Amino acid sequence: MYRVVVAGSGIALPERVVTNTELSQKVDTSDDWITERTGIRQRHVAAEGEYTSDLAARAGTAALEDAGLTPDDIDLIIVATATPDLTFPATAAIVQQKMGVRQGAAFDLQAVCTGFVYALSTAEKFLACGQHRNALVIGAETFSRILDWEDRRTCVLFGDGAGAFVLQAQTAEEAGDRGVLASHLRCDGRMVDLLYVDGGPSTTGTAGHLRMEGNKVFREAVGRISAAMVETMKEANLPFSDVDWFVPHQANQRIIGGVVKKLDLNIDKVVSTIAHHGNTSAASIPLAFHAARQDGRIKKDDLVLIEGMGGGLTWGAALFRF
Ligand code: UT7
Repeated sequence: MYRVVVAGSGIALPERVVTNTELSQKVDTSDDWITERTGIRQRHVAAEGEYTSDLAARAGTAALEDAGLTPDDIDLIIVATATPDLTFPATAAIVQQKMGVRQGAAFDLQAVCTGFVYALSTAEKFLACGQHRNALVIGAETFSRILDWEDRRTCVLFGDGAGAFVLQAQTAEEAGDRGVLASHLRCDGRMVDLLYVDGGPSTTGTAGHLRMEGNKVFREAVGRISAAMVETMKEANLPFSDVDWFVPHQANQRIIGGVVKKLDLNIDKVVSTIAHHGNTSAASIPLAFHAARQDGRIKKDDLVLIEGMGGGLTWGAALFRF
């Protein structure tokens, strides 16, 4: 078995920024309500003709450069997305083409806002057994395309963007202490109706719009996320006090605060980018991780715990030494 190391990261954000004030001119909301209830101040929105695959390929290319690799080195691409370019082929196949990767496997993974945790955990298994050597794990979304822009309960929450990790299979000597140490994935399909998109190829034949019973999802969030984090630390046999950085899915600052309180975590170790990006679903964790690397907080050898929860409901956590 190989150790699976995070060898690089990269991000891509659309140029256009939409502030809360701009949104308040379109729907009955206010900067105060959005900021107080969620922590969101702005979000990025993709331009016409800018697709999930474009953001994913940009983030993937940046992550490759960061890892010092080329497209020839990549033999697995997993794109976590709930907003694929097309019903098929997989956005990962389009990303492979756009990035100039000519070998290996590529597929999409759909776990909505938990997508990046699911994809990281999945890729880790492919690499640990030696079947693949270098994987690109990308969370990429254009939620602006599935929002009902007249529904103030949902349209203020989400944004577009992409983030990517390069994962590399290394021997124990190469990896040292680094690598993915544990992950814990869950789903409870009894709650599909709390957060879903009301369209699809097999039902309406349309893409549909996002529908959410926000306060019910909120009530489920803190307990489930905390439990997944506890299970992950237990599996790694490490205490929370060893974790250098918590990088949560960025859905709501109050959910993040609730988890911090429940698990008695140090808020100074929690990375939050929700004010700048809003909820970018599968992209939010790698976007936040990369931001904390860029500003010098997350460094090589730091112990990082990521977590997410989203439609399904799905939820999970993963621990790695960077
Ligand atoms: O990432 C995937 C997982 N998703 C989540 O984790 C999201 C979880 N849910 C949440 O983050 C929160 O529930 C929301 C931010 C969506 C909503 O916050 P809340 O404190 O749960 O508010 P609420 O839904 O209970 O609504 C409170 C009030 C309602 O008015 P009334 O019925 O009390 O008169 C809403 O109509 O706020 C109203 N409201 C708004 N007002 C101004 C809802 N959206 C808005 C808005 N602007 N944008």
